[in-house]
Amino acid sequence: MGGPSITNLILNISLLSTCYATAVTHLHDGAAIEALAVLERRVVPDAPNGYAPAPVDCPSTRPRVRSARTLSSEETSWLEKRRNNTIQPLRDFLTRVNIPGFDAGAYIDANRNNASAIPNIGIACSGGGYRALMNGAGVLSAFDSRTNNSTNTGHIGGLLQSATYLAGLSGGGWLVGSLSLNNFTSVQDIVNSTPDQIGSLWQFQNSIFAGPKENAVQNISGGDYYSNLVATVNSKRDAGYNASLTDLWGRALSYQLINSPQGGPGITWTGLSDDPTFTAANAPMPILVADGRAPGEFIISLNTTVFEFNPWEMGSWDPTVYGFAPLRYVGSNFSQGVIPSNQQCVRGFDNAGFVMGTSSSLFNQFILNLDSIVSEIPKVFVSLVEGILQSFSGDENDIADWTPNPFFGWNNDSNPGAQSKRLTLVDGGEDLQNLPLQPLIQPEREVDVIFAVDSSADTLAPGANWPNGTALVATYARSLNAEMNNGTGFPAIPDQNTFVNLGLNTRPTFFGCDASNFTGAPPPLLVYIPNHPFIYNSNVSTFTFSYNISERNAIIENGYLVGTRGNSTLDEQWPQCVGCAIMSRTWSKSGATVPDVCNQCFERYCWNGTLASETPAQPYEPDSVFTELDLAKNGGTALAPSIFSLMLAFGTVAALAL
Ligand SMILES: *[C@@H]1O[C@H](CO)[C@@H](O)[C@H](O)[C@H]1NC(C)=O
Ligand SMILES: *[C@@H]1O[C@H](CO)[C@@H](O)[C@H](O)[C@H]1NC(C)=O
Ligand SMILES: *[C@@H]1O[C@H](CO)[C@@H](O)[C@H](O)[C@H]1NC(C)=O
Ligand SMILES: *[C@@H]1O[C@H](CO)[C@@H](O)[C@H](O)[C@H]1NC(C)=O
Ligand SMILES: *[C@@H]1O[C@H](CO)[C@@H](O)[C@H](O)[C@H]1NC(C)=O
Ligand SMILES: *[C@@H]1O[C@H](CO)[C@@H](O)[C@H](O)[C@H]1NC(C)=O
Ligand SMILES: *[C@@H]1O[C@H](CO)[C@@H](O)[C@H](O)[C@H]1NC(C)=O
Ligand SMILES: *[C@@H]1O[C@H](CO)[C@@H](O)[C@H](O)[C@H]1NC(C)=O
Ligand SMILES: *[C@@H]1O[C@H](CO)[C@@H](O)[C@H](O)[C@H]1NC(C)=O
Ligand SMILES: *[C@@H]1O[C@H](CO)[C@@H](O)[C@H](O)[C@H]1NC(C)=O
Ligand SMILES: *[C@@H]1O[C@H](CO)[C@@H](O)[C@H](O)[C@H]1NC(C)=O
Ligand SMILES: *[C@@H]1O[C@H](CO)[C@@H](O)[C@H](O)[C@H]1NC(C)=O
Repeated sequence: MGGPSITNLILNISLLSTCYATAVTHLHDGAAIEALAVLERRVVPDAPNGYAPAPVDCPSTRPRVRSARTLSSEETSWLEKRRNNTIQPLRDFLTRVNIPGFDAGAYIDANRNNASAIPNIGIACSGGGYRALMNGAGVLSAFDSRTNNSTNTGHIGGLLQSATYLAGLSGGGWLVGSLSLNNFTSVQDIVNSTPDQIGSLWQFQNSIFAGPKENAVQNISGGDYYSNLVATVNSKRDAGYNASLTDLWGRALSYQLINSPQGGPGITWTGLSDDPTFTAANAPMPILVADGRAPGEFIISLNTTVFEFNPWEMGSWDPTVYGFAPLRYVGSNFSQGVIPSNQQCVRGFDNAGFVMGTSSSLFNQFILNLDSIVSEIPKVFVSLVEGILQSFSGDENDIADWTPNPFFGWNNDSNPGAQSKRLTLVDGGEDLQNLPLQPLIQPEREVDVIFAVDSSADTLAPGANWPNGTALVATYARSLNAEMNNGTGFPAIPDQNTFVNLGLNTRPTFFGCDASNFTGAPPPLLVYIPNHPFIYNSNVSTFTFSYNISERNAIIENGYLVGTRGNSTLDEQWPQCVGCAIMSRTWSKSGATVPDVCNQCFERYCWNGTLASETPAQPYEPDSVFTELDLAKNGGTALAPSIFSLMLAFGTVAALAL
């Protein structure tokens, strides 16, 4: 990486907040330059007043909520660039995997100017805390042509560069958010960075409850860390907004996920829409998911309103809300879709950590039990938590408060929250749809194939914390609910016993292969990629909150093998089969003959409709495919069982799956 020029340095300093400038003055010149070289590689803070939302002049066209009937104009114009930018990587990918009987180069060259003839790829990363972040990271690094050796024979690098959408939920949202907010850095760059050095992300050896190890950028630790969380969240309350535990959680997450002093209190999710790498469409579009849940309500996959956060908007495609608000101005008092002329425009509500915290709000529960994890919690922190708790009833501690509701008075007939000034959102996995698939199955997005990386903790002891298809079962059930599916379709998915009995959760499985088995336009083909042990038992507990660097890296490396089927050791043709899955819908649209190799792949990987619904004879306890790595473990911060039972008491059943 070349160092930044002096003019760039000056330009960047002028963009940075005063607290940052202060941090830099503590450094020697050399270190300052090094720090900047790393630090500028992220979204620039653009909130008017740090973490606190603040009034700004309204733009000449006043912000408004729009109907979900179409894509946003911003997404439509971005897609023109992105779809075009994926053509060369896809051509390279398909050429490398080399499917006999399919001349990828000739095909792509002949159809360059016809987007509907070029496969449109989405990737989904499930929830599951740090396990999901790390396993998902490993699979993404296998998809990423920037990873060393990933474009060699037997590997599948380039898929990420060929993808249009990258969706994440809860722990998968931490992954998607962290990469996207840091200039779409690569997993390998993060893994290769030196622990506790300036600019090193994912320092999970320093528990989120202890805060970062003090260095010149994160010039904060211990008690100061807590004070800083409190000060920023209080600044939001002082500005007149409700704070929820999600604010504290999101701020804490930011220290680990955003390479910026204090986790970038002024960095917003919509800051992504101005990020040069994103605007040039050199990376896929990040989307995070959360669920709507009104106070006292109980949600299930059949009836939740699913919200998405993309770089421009938040909102829902569901027939309830069926609208999108301009995320940059959320925090303003919208009414019937507009900001009344006597109301100011507000910016800065959509703090990036708050958005990631909203998608993962189930983890709020841990804040309530900090005293069993950390011996000395500063008083200021305790009293802020108490203050926040007073404004919620006991079963609402997992709520992220998005008041004022941008959808107040919007779609009064169908929107159950239209009469409420409050909008409360919860963890995207609380409805059991632990994979962020709703944004990717919207017909408007025209996705042809979804690679769904499932790191859920479904199975029970003795082989606990492996996925068993529960997330897909939930999304399939919802797709059959005529009142909520609103025109979306989904491949047929068998029950979890079938997953386990047929081993569909031990290896990649394709669902919905036969496009003619649907009435109307088929939904995307689904490539399900479940977490599985290759060299490490990556089924670590959702409730483990620190990992030493070697364990972090082992889980990421295991994820690489999950994505590549052990560098194609388990199936020499795996990269070709990935190519076949990518091309499948495109071939069926044009009526092209499917190459023999692909028919063989589909025979191996497509679920063919067989059910085996009897209770599995044995508990699910997968053996490691290769020899297990032997790490000298120092043991993470596993939480006491009492907290686990408390989580269960609090949350919905989803607490199990996350
Ligand atoms: C962001 O990444 C791109 C591609 O790696 C690189 O060219 C660019 O210089 C980076 N931007 C910054 C601000 O570092
Ligand atoms: C499409 O991308 C190619 C580079 O792959 C570029 O040369 C071309 O100008 C782009 N076309 C459009 C219409 O953006
Ligand atoms: C573009 O591709 C689609 C799908 O293969 C095909 O139906 C359509 O005729 C093509 N359009 C043009 C202008 O070639
Ligand atoms: C990756 O490859 C680059 C050049 O191809 C090399 O400089 C670097 O050391 C390699 N990294 C690892 C971890 O092997
Ligand atoms: C890449 O492959 C080369 C040769 O096969 C090997 O020496 C090197 O260690 C590999 N790099 C990584 C990061 O695996
Ligand atoms: C798989 O490939 C990666 C990248 O080349 C390499 O680092 C790793 O050692 C390989 N692992 C196995 C088990 O072959
Ligand atoms: C952190 O900042 C304080 C002043 O607030 C300073 O005294 C200290 O040296 C800094 N620590 C580091 C590691 O730069
Ligand atoms: C969703 O379904 C559950 C269980 O049937 C019910 O308790 C809840 O009220 C429903 N919520 C909505 C918004 O319909
Ligand atoms: C989706 O829901 C909206 C709002 O209820 C409705 O207007 C629209 O017709 C629905 N679309 C489909 C395809 O059912
Ligand atoms: C699948 O996971 C669910 C929890 O999500 C669990 O209740 C069920 O027992 C599991 N079934 C199998 C066969 O693993
Ligand atoms: C479908 O798959 C099952 C097991 O996965 C297999 O036993 C059966 O033979 C397959 N049926 C067909 C028609 O291929
Ligand atoms: C084909 O569609 C039917 C009806 O939705 C479904 O029951 C069946 O499982 C599907 N077959 C496959 C192989 O997905």
